[in-house]
Amino acid sequence: MTQPISGFSKKTKDAKIEWLLESYFNNSQAAKNTLEQYWNDNEALQQLHDDFIENALTNYYLPFGVAPNFLVNGTLYALPMVIEESSVVAAASNAAKFWLERGGFTAEVISSTKNGQIHIDFYGASETLTDFFTAIKPKLIASIASLQKNMQKRGGGLLDLELLDATHTLEGYYQLHATFETLDAMGANFINSCLEKIAATLEAEAATYKDFTTHKPKVVMSILSNYVPECLVRARVDCKVEDLTHNGISGATFAKDFVRAIAIAKSETRRAVTHNKGIMNGIDAVILATGNDFRAVEAGVHAYASKNGYYSSLTHAKIEEDVFNFWIEIPLALGTVGGLTTLHPLVKFALQLLQQPSARDLMQLVAVAGLAQNFAAVKSLVTDGIQKGHMKMHLMNILNQVEATSEEKQKAIIHFKTTAVSHSAVVNFITALRT
Ligand code: MEV
Repeated sequence: MTQPISGFSKKTKDAKIEWLLESYFNNSQAAKNTLEQYWNDNEALQQLHDDFIENALTNYYLPFGVAPNFLVNGTLYALPMVIEESSVVAAASNAAKFWLERGGFTAEVISSTKNGQIHIDFYGASETLTDFFTAIKPKLIASIASLQKNMQKRGGGLLDLELLDATHTLEGYYQLHATFETLDAMGANFINSCLEKIAATLEAEAATYKDFTTHKPKVVMSILSNYVPECLVRARVDCKVEDLTHNGISGATFAKDFVRAIAIAKSETRRAVTHNKGIMNGIDAVILATGNDFRAVEAGVHAYASKNGYYSSLTHAKIEEDVFNFWIEIPLALGTVGGLTTLHPLVKFALQLLQQPSARDLMQLVAVAGLAQNFAAVKSLVTDGIQKGHMKMHLMNILNQVEATSEEKQKAIIHFKTTAVSHSAVVNFITALRT
């Protein structure tokens, strides 16, 4: 039986792999080869990746693709996308082309404020805590002067610090709610450093505050929030209903069915989750390509989808005076400096491809990617269904599963241009070719 190991992180990469192979792979050479085939011959590049996390053994590839023809606020972009799902980039490209011919996308940042909290326990009289906070607030802010000097020079920093009484949600629970402008940085490290410093100052001041006799405030934790409804971006498309006519479907029918599909996603949780998952296909792909934190974005976006007390669609659609309007409004805390942006060569490439966007520019492009992805999905759903396009794109995966040769692949591609793709249809086709 495998035994626990101590000091694993201190072992060399080779020793870690040796231990793993011995413990879990019966010393399989094939398992070793699987890891080693992804090592990069460029030692510096490999070291860079090894340094990103602890216990790195190898690299895990995902395709880096590009969806061109995105006209956003009058500028043409090719969006970088990192994703494993076959049809996502194709769908984004189709939506980009569709809207390129109808005026493109418009996007605007509504607000860019981020936030964090110092969570406090206090069981004394609430007025005593309020008086204490009022008295020490200037000291709390002064304590982060050196931390926020550079951010302030560029026009950002702490915007506000307020004491919130949250005892109605939890006995003895108060918060210092801090708001920040972090400009082109996602700001997680900056915000957390500021919060921890303010928290330490608060506790030091509380230790000697004369009015705390029996009860003193105790800091439970200090951390930024990934819920950023004040860091909001909107992207939209609109056109005359008649301009939506395509593939023999009238604009009026398409617009009506489309708006109805969005209404269903707005009112029904099971559909809303899948609908929003499709939006996140586009958003996460650009977030990953640009080295941002997709878990933070996912968490914040889904919380925003529930802001009215139930989970609902992130996109909205209406027909007004024969004009079709389709838009998305989402919170996005993104960075185009710091983090991986100056480290990962492909992230640098992606940002270069986007013409070195500011964080606000990137918020707009990411919102557009989400809107485009949702447009493509709902367009398919209310017309041909999703499987036709999806399975066409999945064909290559099935061919690879059955280890088709290049010649077999070519024949299959031609055959399935006019035939529905399914796993069994592809297997049957290849079997027939081989016999
Ligand atoms: C698949 O990854 C995403 C969709 O299910 C989204 C949707 O249903 O709107 C196609």
